[in-house]
Amino acid sequence: MELKALILAAGKGTRMKSEKPKVIHEVNGIPMVKKILNELKKIDIKESILILGHKKEEILKTLGEIPYVVQEEQLGTGHAIIQAKELLKDYDGDVMILCGDTPLLKGETLKKMYEYHKTNNCITTVLTAIYENPFGYGRIVKENGKFIGIVEEKEATEEIRKIKEVNAGVYCCNSKELFKALDKIDNNNEKGEYYLTDIIKIQVNENKKVDSFVLEDSQEILGVNSKVELALASKILRERKNKELMEEGVILIDPDNTYIEETVKIGIDTIVYPGVVLQGNTIIGENCEIIGNTRIIDSTLKNNIRIESSVIEESILEDKVTMGPFAHLRPKAHLKEKVHIGNFVEVKKSTLESGVKAGHLTYLGNATIGKDTNIGAGTITCNYDGVNKFNTNIGEKVFIGSSTMLVAPVNIGSNSVTGAGSVITKDVPEDALAVERSKQLIKLKWRK
Ligand code: UD1
Ligand code: CA
Repeated sequence: MELKALILAAGKGTRMKSEKPKVIHEVNGIPMVKKILNELKKIDIKESILILGHKKEEILKTLGEIPYVVQEEQLGTGHAIIQAKELLKDYDGDVMILCGDTPLLKGETLKKMYEYHKTNNCITTVLTAIYENPFGYGRIVKENGKFIGIVEEKEATEEIRKIKEVNAGVYCCNSKELFKALDKIDNNNEKGEYYLTDIIKIQVNENKKVDSFVLEDSQEILGVNSKVELALASKILRERKNKELMEEGVILIDPDNTYIEETVKIGIDTIVYPGVVLQGNTIIGENCEIIGNTRIIDSTLKNNIRIESSVIEESILEDKVTMGPFAHLRPKAHLKEKVHIGNFVEVKKSTLESGVKAGHLTYLGNATIGKDTNIGAGTITCNYDGVNKFNTNIGEKVFIGSSTMLVAPVNIGSNSVTGAGSVITKDVPEDALAVERSKQLIKLKWRK
């Protein structure tokens, strides 16, 4: 049978105190609801449909194209699901219902729950957890061990409030039976809302098979309602990611102070020091060393690379590159094998062939630099005339003297040399020396 998911994400999330819709706040680098969609992809889901209301445009902008239905007014969780009735009218598989604000749920848990639902031929299966402090949650009410209903905190009697098994807010339902039961719910309760949870007692009364599936790790259903919980969820996801990386062979000196987003991949024996932030689609190879206060975003690093206290954005680094401290690669920097970029060097949209060295205080933008060329301290490619950007092409084995200003567009032939302090505005042929500076004056005994 088929399985589709419905994700509740119409609510305001008032306690977040934010202009941004709750479900697109990020946990360890991914919008919460995206994290849930990713976990759902791990199980055999045909389609995930969002139920949106509050600031839906903003959510759609973040997620891109995704099936959704709109709940104009938030009249309760049952009312929210009813909004998908029309869309699913010809569907007779199962639906899994989840909330957009529980980013710690694991795909494998959802899978186990669904398998339980199938093998036991349930009409509805509710994910539950045992909580020492169940306050605020719907309680799972059982009679002689048989699940008979869910009672919300507000309607619970003293006796029911003592129940520690709570509704986690995730359900597997036979779609046809779900909408049949939802036709019968009302809003005669303390909150005046249409409760999804009321389907249980309706189905039990009709002798349909409902059951609960208890979570092994109750932490998984942590709901994010505030920025405190947002930080907690991020921390837990980070711990999971770090543990996974270490199990795969990565060395983290101090995992508690290492910030690696979910999407990042790292090879074996690479060492990551505290204070490192690795983000987005960053891929790091084997046996690298990433040291102190380095931030790497959407970049690819091959093997045996050493980076210290630097920032790398959307760039590619080949084997044995060394970089830093205090260097910055801006988008589209490509450093080939054994390139060295040192203190206070910035590279943007430039390719540095293997063996290029730029050790100190340099800006290289819109440039190509040939093999084994040495860039002296203080060199700048003057690539911008205030209106347009121009290229600088430097050949192989060139020696660019310290503080050379390369006024683009300009070509520097292989094996050539520029004198320190020169402002180079004309092309330099191969093997030539280019010097551009006024003669030094000496006035003897001038101080006297
Ligand atoms: C719900 C359950 C409760 C369970 C708890 C688990 C009901 C009646 N109660 O309670 O048994 O223990 O979740 O976290 O379902 N939403 C909409 N539209 C609405 C109302 C809510 O999209 O009209 C969304 C919210 O944005 C939220 C989710 O549904 O993501 C849950 O709603 P909420 O009001 O927080 O339900 P709880 O009171 O927490
Ligand atoms: Ca809630």
